[in-house]
Amino acid sequence: MIHLPKAHAYPTTAAIGLSLALLAACGSAESETVAEPSAPAAEALEPGSLKFIMGGLAGDMTRLSAGLWLDDFEAIRAGATAVADHPHVSPSELSRVRATLGERLPLFVAADRAVHDAAQRVAQAAEARDMERVLRETATLQSGCVSCHARFREALKGD
Ligand code: HEC
Repeated sequence: MIHLPKAHAYPTTAAIGLSLALLAACGSAESETVAEPSAPAAEALEPGSLKFIMGGLAGDMTRLSAGLWLDDFEAIRAGATAVADHPHVSPSELSRVRATLGERLPLFVAADRAVHDAAQRVAQAAEARDMERVLRETATLQSGCVSCHARFREALKGD
């Protein structure tokens, strides 16, 4: 099962403005496959890694979707806010991203920013209990996730 991360305060933008990085103590994508507590340490993901953070985002989006199907605006708001407020990648992961992308880094940062902004709009629409707007902004949010993957996932795939 996916462990849903708790919302965190959105930290002030660091010099680079790279706002990627999610929660430490919450689930990674690996948790979907129910890792044994005794799993070898080598398989543990770095909390500051993109992959770990993405697992958290997937959980947040699951929470958001569950809210859609249940007419639960609070769940929608909570899921969207967790996406918007995700923590930062670790300094070493940031170095890897920077070294891999070079001049394309600003595009990556912009893609992250677009997702952040769309998630905030979903949360606002949920607060206003405006389902039509929630759906519209959720579609934009999902496109933001997928378009970053289309452009950068292959290059940045971690271990
Ligand atoms: C700024 C770019 C960017 C954005 C925005 C982004 N992702 Fe990702 N995502 C990546 C990259 C790069 C990877 C590959 C990471 C790796 O394999 O180390 C990835 C991988 C993933 C994975 C696979 C993780 C795994 O275990 O292999 C999931 C799930 C995921 N993202 C979910 C999301 C969701 C949900 C959103 C939107 C809420 C999102 N991502 C937004 C860049 C992004």
